Amino acid sequence: MKNSKTSKVRLDKLLGSLGYCVRKEVTALLRDGVITHTDNLPLKSDTKVSHDEILYEGEPLDPPAGMIILMSKPSGLVCSHDDGEGRLVYDLLPSRWRLRDPKISTIGRLDKETSGLLLLTDDGALLHRLTSPKHKVPKVYEATLDRPLRGDETEIFASGTLMLNGEKNPCLPAKLTIIDETNVTLEIVEGRYHQVRRMFAAVGNHVIALHRSTFGNLTLRDLKEGEYRLIDAESLSR
Ligand code: URA
Repeated sequence: MKNSKTSKVRLDKLLGSLGYCVRKEVTALLRDGVITHTDNLPLKSDTKVSHDEILYEGEPLDPPAGMIILMSKPSGLVCSHDDGEGRLVYDLLPSRWRLRDPKISTIGRLDKETSGLLLLTDDGALLHRLTSPKHKVPKVYEATLDRPLRGDETEIFASGTLMLNGEKNPCLPAKLTIIDETNVTLEIVEGRYHQVRRMFAAVGNHVIALHRSTFGNLTLRDLKEGEYRLIDAESLSR
């Protein structure tokens, strides 16, 4: 596989793909000294360069394609590219990242009112693999319920027989851990639409707050709401 930090591409293509500018603006940015070479070599728009030899305003470039972002999503933000839907999770990232090609997308979605661990990537193959129904990664959700548990939920969720409204196949077994009568954690390996909320609706309850605390082995660690960090592909499979 090509190393996107050291393989050579045209300077205007590189900067365009990272969202710094449109390709035809590169000549002016070179003239103004905004774009420079780490060894002060002369540059033109069509010079073949590697990612790590270019500076923008004296700083190394944003990460090359192949980014994985682990975000602490606050409640109230939408996992969508459509500005018409309110504040977007992408608004928490540097604005030029919205212009990157390949585009950054969320790996699955959290509801607007759900907070917690959200992954985003510009790696299409990874996105496809992790969102495939075949990919059974455990995810833990912390839920606050409107009504006290009735007592049979742990067994029903673990049984692999729970049917969600409008679906043909039952949910795979899920592990409920009771904290108190209205606070639980639920570990699921699927990612159906509104799955946790619908599972509780199916047992006569209602989720009033939902937070995802893990995705596979990944946790938020010390990330505060609205913050993010870059992770590598290896940490996803650990
Ligand atoms: N299940 C839900 O109901 N909502 C989410 O955001 C994630 C899982």
